[in-house]
Amino acid sequence: MDSVKTSYGQVMLVDNGGFFPEQDNQQDIAWFLMDAMKVLGTDAVGVSERELRWGVSYLRFQVKRTQLPLVCANLLDAATRRTVVQPFLIKKIGTVRVGAFGLISDKVDLGPSRDSLRVEEPTAAARRTVAEMRKKGATVVVLLSQLGKVESEDLAAAVPGIDAVVCGHNVPLIQKGRMIKNTVASYGGEQGQYLSRTVLTLNSQRRAVTGENESFILGPEVGERAEILKLVKDFEDAYNEKLRKEEREHAAATTAEGADHYLGAELCARCHSAEAQQWKTTSHSVAWQTLVTVKKDATPDCIPCHVVGYKQAGGFQNGADAARLGGVQCENCHGMGTQHEAFATAPRAVTAQTCVGCHHGENDSEFNWEHDLPLVAHDNTSGTTLSKKKVHIDPNMMKMGMKSGSN
Ligand code: HEC
Ligand code: HEC
Ligand code: HEC
Ligand code: HEC
Repeated sequence: MDSVKTSYGQVMLVDNGGFFPEQDNQQDIAWFLMDAMKVLGTDAVGVSERELRWGVSYLRFQVKRTQLPLVCANLLDAATRRTVVQPFLIKKIGTVRVGAFGLISDKVDLGPSRDSLRVEEPTAAARRTVAEMRKKGATVVVLLSQLGKVESEDLAAAVPGIDAVVCGHNVPLIQKGRMIKNTVASYGGEQGQYLSRTVLTLNSQRRAVTGENESFILGPEVGERAEILKLVKDFEDAYNEKLRKEEREHAAATTAEGADHYLGAELCARCHSAEAQQWKTTSHSVAWQTLVTVKKDATPDCIPCHVVGYKQAGGFQNGADAARLGGVQCENCHGMGTQHEAFATAPRAVTAQTCVGCHHGENDSEFNWEHDLPLVAHDNTSGTTLSKKKVHIDPNMMKMGMKSGSN
């Protein structure tokens, strides 16, 4: 945006809408995105049914809080027939009065507020709104459309006076936008990965005569602005901390019930120091560090077989548990520590079945009990499995592993 502003001078920044997150428990992200768009100086923002997912009063509250300029010309309160957010806005960009309006599809489910809202037929709403904006002095008109690709294009062709349309709602990326009659259409793709630039050339009456559009991926070569980087980082840190807290509470709740749960190898080592010492000579003890080294320690698909009791009671919930519950430990083979009483007197047999829970499929299609057990059995301290590892573990990383109970 900064470089576009520098090169073109008269620049308007718009967002097409559809920025509320997909998951129910992610209201924080909705807050954050609206704050961030405000900081970025977004001049107009469209609305999709996503923004209605927590109800219309939630959206109204956020608009009031952030003063973000949301526009939608055909989303009406069923009772009052008034638009839920302003239908359009006219903004002076340099010397040009630009009108921006939004449209939402009349074929979508409006979620919790479906009964209290009504969507006006888009073409009729567009004709009325374009005329009103022109009357009020807008010489350039921009549509933030949530009608999908085909309907956005049809509408731009049917309603004269729209200079640029931003096509949204499951619209695939088209790198170079195209002309639909006299309208420049842009297709910036999904998930905010692209910045789409529409350039309009104006005549002396400040009306658009030609235009073109191109979308650019926001890749690593686009420099970060320190202010925004900090905003994102602060949000992510706080969000991560919140999730961590929730998980801790969840884990505490499941263990507090007195149900069986995992304890971690450090405890076992206090009494079984010989087995613990031997275990440290096997690659099972560094299975977590392996994931850290290959940078997959935050990938949920990889974690289960490389830690103790993933997402189970007392087990590994997230990276914060790595020092205590990272790696393949005693309890992976012997069962939850709280069942110790039971397995001490009537030991749960460790069988091939125990091993193939992890040693199977593409992770180890060649598992062989007769061959593999001796490599990790408690009387083998040769360290073969560690020395034959394919992934080299940084010795400094070992410090986060388990402390031995032998001293
Ligand atoms: C407070 C000391 C103590 C702690 C802590 C402890 N154990 Fe034990 N464990 C024992 C004793 C004592 C026995 C009884 C068998 C024996 O005499 O070796 C035993 C037995 C066992 C056995 C069965 C041995 C057999 O005879 O087949 C296993 C397996 C075992 N423990 C694993 C664990 C694991 C895993 C943990 C950690 C979750 C753990 N223990 C924690 C003291 C302890
Ligand atoms: C919780 C999952 C899990 C269980 C249960 C498990 N392993 Fe492993 N095992 C692993 C992982 C993960 C590695 C790779 C560790 C690394 O290098 O990071 C591994 C490595 C090994 C290796 C060294 C690599 C190889 O395949 O030669 C042997 C041998 C081995 N395990 C044998 C066993 C045996 C025998 C059992 C059962 C008594 C068993 N494992 C149970 C997950 C498991
Ligand atoms: C179903 C259980 C399971 C899952 C899921 C799993 N692993 Fe493993 N992983 C193993 C076992 C078992 C071994 C040991 C196999 C062997 O070496 O024969 C292993 C070994 C490895 C090794 C080799 C260690 C070494 O130094 O030799 C790496 C690296 C690894 N896993 C990474 C991953 C990554 C990355 C993922 C996610 C994409 C993943 N694992 C998911 C069970 C699993
Ligand atoms: C890869 C699986 C595996 C892991 C990991 C493992 N054990 Fe074992 N453990 C076995 C097997 C197999 C036996 C042999 C007895 C059996 O079949 O139950 C055994 C036996 C034992 C015994 C009985 C006495 C002995 O030494 O044979 C104790 C105690 C024990 N383990 C404790 C531990 C402790 C403590 C840890 C963690 C530091 C641990 N084990 C980790 C598989 C494992």
